[in-house]
Amino acid sequence: MGSLSSAHNISDLRELARKRLPRMVFDYIDGGADDEVTLRDNPGRFADYKLNFKTLVDISEIDMRTSVMGAESTAPIVVTPTAAQRLFHPKGGESAVARAAKKAGLIYCLSTLGSTTIERVAELTDGPKWFQVYVWKDRAIVEKALERARTAGFTGVILTVDVPVAGNRERDHVNAFTIPPKINARTVSQVLARPGYLMDMLGSPEIAAANWADMDTGGMGIIEFLNSQFDRTVTWEHARWMKEVWGGPFAIKGICRADDARRCLDAGADAVWISNHGGRQLDTSPATIDTLPDIVAAVRGQADIILDGGVRRGTDIIKAIALGATAVAVGRPYLYGLGAAGEAGVSRALELLMTSLERDMALTGVAKLSDLTPDFVRRP
Ligand code: FNR
Ligand code: LAC
Repeated sequence: MGSLSSAHNISDLRELARKRLPRMVFDYIDGGADDEVTLRDNPGRFADYKLNFKTLVDISEIDMRTSVMGAESTAPIVVTPTAAQRLFHPKGGESAVARAAKKAGLIYCLSTLGSTTIERVAELTDGPKWFQVYVWKDRAIVEKALERARTAGFTGVILTVDVPVAGNRERDHVNAFTIPPKINARTVSQVLARPGYLMDMLGSPEIAAANWADMDTGGMGIIEFLNSQFDRTVTWEHARWMKEVWGGPFAIKGICRADDARRCLDAGADAVWISNHGGRQLDTSPATIDTLPDIVAAVRGQADIILDGGVRRGTDIIKAIALGATAVAVGRPYLYGLGAAGEAGVSRALELLMTSLERDMALTGVAKLSDLTPDFVRRP
């Protein structure tokens, strides 16, 4: 695809997605909470950390392979869970992302709010896959979903804890955005301006929270449904409960503080996942890279550490690994690719990240990830 090969970085893919998606859909991917301070800081702060490169190192073979929560990966990049992927490419959706992840040899994470079922994703990829959950009021339905994930061959579970309520995404309010998108006075011109997307959408089944099809959502959109299901009394007790119910590799996603990282370990987590939900939840929470050193010190090697938020270049990945992360995760980079061109676009996004990591490791003077130590990073 011509335009994809002329996308040389993630911002180029973002531009392509902007041209192909109705504005409300693009804004749902691209936007953050309140004044979008954290949204900007996540990538912005990476640039403030500088790389002290080493020279005259044998870099004839660059090895990016690693394992995260026991799953093998060709690079330290996890395909983070994002809701309703069919919204961004109605025909491709989760199948496009899961296939591209499998081809790249990366771990795919299915969101609880995915628009494709657990079982269908399992048919699409025999690659490593994890299932993301929240703690809901009705524990029985969460247990049932975990059982389905286990039966389908998912090997890890991620409990997302930074969404006790939905964040204030003002772009979504301005656009009167809902999932599935409703065509109303405010959105009709946006959708008509993107006929390719409109045709795709009309030609595919309705975009819904596919894994909860047997629940009565009372005609609610996904975000309302999510809000109605959140249990505001949830505490660390419930994280422990979930680890017990699942029994296997378990990550807690949405950690910002060292004391909470210790609580993850107490709850039996195998991975502490540093995240502020890509700046979509509490605005002015710190950029994730700034929280990493304290959390690494608190975890003391007792769990894997995954970091997401603003990772756009190989150099970002190198900084996170050098400062002690096991792997990074990415959301918008592959969503822009998905919106731009379906599976081929996701593959392009993952390829851009992987080739830049490989090149940047060579330029930094490290042949394998375990050679990346904190002295490679000059902190701001
Ligand atoms: C998300 N994220 C998210 N996280 C989660 O645990 N469950 C979910 O359903 C979603 N949904 C979702 C939708 C969209 C459109 C985005 C952009 C993000 C958060 C996601 O997993 C991750 O934390 C951030 O996307 C990481 O930041 P970057 O890579 O997008 O900057
Ligand atoms: C979001 C929720 C669904 O970030 O996690 O949009």
